Amino acid sequence: MATQAATSISIQHDGEPKANAIRERLDAVVGKGQRTYTPSQVTVKSAKGSYLWTVDDRKLVDFTSGVLVANLGHDHPRFEELCREYADGLPRNAYNMVAEIEVIAAERLLKSMAATNPKAEKLFWAASGSEGIQKAMWAAQHKAPERQILLATRYGFHGKKGLAGDVTGAESLNPNVRFVSFPMKEEKPQSFYQDELDAFAEEFDGQIALLITEPYLGAAGSFHPPKWYHQMLQAWCEQHGVVLIFDEVQACHGRTGNMYAYESYEVQPDLVVLGKGIANGEPAAAVIGRADLIDAMGYGEASDTFSGNPRACAAICAVLDVFEEEGVIDKARAAARDIGERLCALPDAFPFVKTVRGEGLVYGIEIENAELANRCVLEAYYGTGDAGVHLLGPLAGTVLRVSPPLLISESEIAEAFAIIEQAWARI
Ligand SMILES: Cc1ncc(COP(=O)(O)O)c(C=O)c1O
Repeated sequence: MATQAATSISIQHDGEPKANAIRERLDAVVGKGQRTYTPSQVTVKSAKGSYLWTVDDRKLVDFTSGVLVANLGHDHPRFEELCREYADGLPRNAYNMVAEIEVIAAERLLKSMAATNPKAEKLFWAASGSEGIQKAMWAAQHKAPERQILLATRYGFHGKKGLAGDVTGAESLNPNVRFVSFPMKEEKPQSFYQDELDAFAEEFDGQIALLITEPYLGAAGSFHPPKWYHQMLQAWCEQHGVVLIFDEVQACHGRTGNMYAYESYEVQPDLVVLGKGIANGEPAAAVIGRADLIDAMGYGEASDTFSGNPRACAAICAVLDVFEEEGVIDKARAAARDIGERLCALPDAFPFVKTVRGEGLVYGIEIENAELANRCVLEAYYGTGDAGVHLLGPLAGTVLRVSPPLLISESEIAEAFAIIEQAWARI
């Protein structure tokens, strides 16, 4: 039986003596604001490939990849080997120094976009997605300081800090932020969105610095728009001299079935922000785009302690190597077809599954209500006893995120769905 820690009471599960003890100690020393509520509160001992092992020796299929981070899976041998090789002998921090690995990582990331986005000319590093978003927005603001207005697509999630927090959601304390509609459940014609944009262009003629959007709404519950939507945003931005920022913090590096989500939506943003899977778990992010925007910031204006450190850059190179050596995109597409078919069968099998939305290897399963959604996470975790499936706590209250490592195998997928089917039959 799980209990959500309202005060100091730890989440506890029957038959998990080691995990329960650790959870109690955690509550004594780490504020609960540090975690996003997940009823299972998996207490992990080790991780390998698509699997996690708990401290009480249960085996879980990881349907989260951390939080869309471990795209290559956990403890990937070649990735780990390459990280060691690239970082061998380098200091962990090279603030106000130059290590060649930084240059190599930048050149390789730019090259990874060269064929699909000619605007990928230069970059900034960041140590987290929200810092990357902040730097991308700063660049646009520095380029055109007379433009005060910041447009964002509504219900996006760009992070909790600074400007990233200001453009997240549907309301902002920043008086310069305005939101435009993003297609979700409602079926509105293209003209509805176009009219809204045009009204902003008229009201704030020459005052709009940037438009920031997620390729698909992630945290808001997995809403994946038609291609025309992003193409319309891009055309409108070009027409009005507005910088288009694509937040690919969670969508980059193969999640949507292409290396970059802007390829899936057939657009070429001015700035693309990458995070999470870019370094398979090493904290790293990057803002990539037009050189005139990146160069709008002078010495020190985008610097900080951890961005672009040698180990992050080594991990970025190692990820790109493994993508090439192991054909990760092709494997991800095959896994995506398999998972997509199995997920789409869930609404027929379970009455509490309302609908399934997604693309590539990022899906949302919408459950009837929040209570049942949490129960689904828990039952998947309890699984068949020794084995379970690890899911994130529900997004937007009722949506279960499915985002396994891109290299998950056919047999691992089959195993996970067999566990889920048995577990959810108890609901
Ligand atoms: C689309 C998107 N943008 C930005 C962020 C913020 O990234 P970070 O948590 O690394 O600051 C997230 C994190 O979940 C995200 O999903």
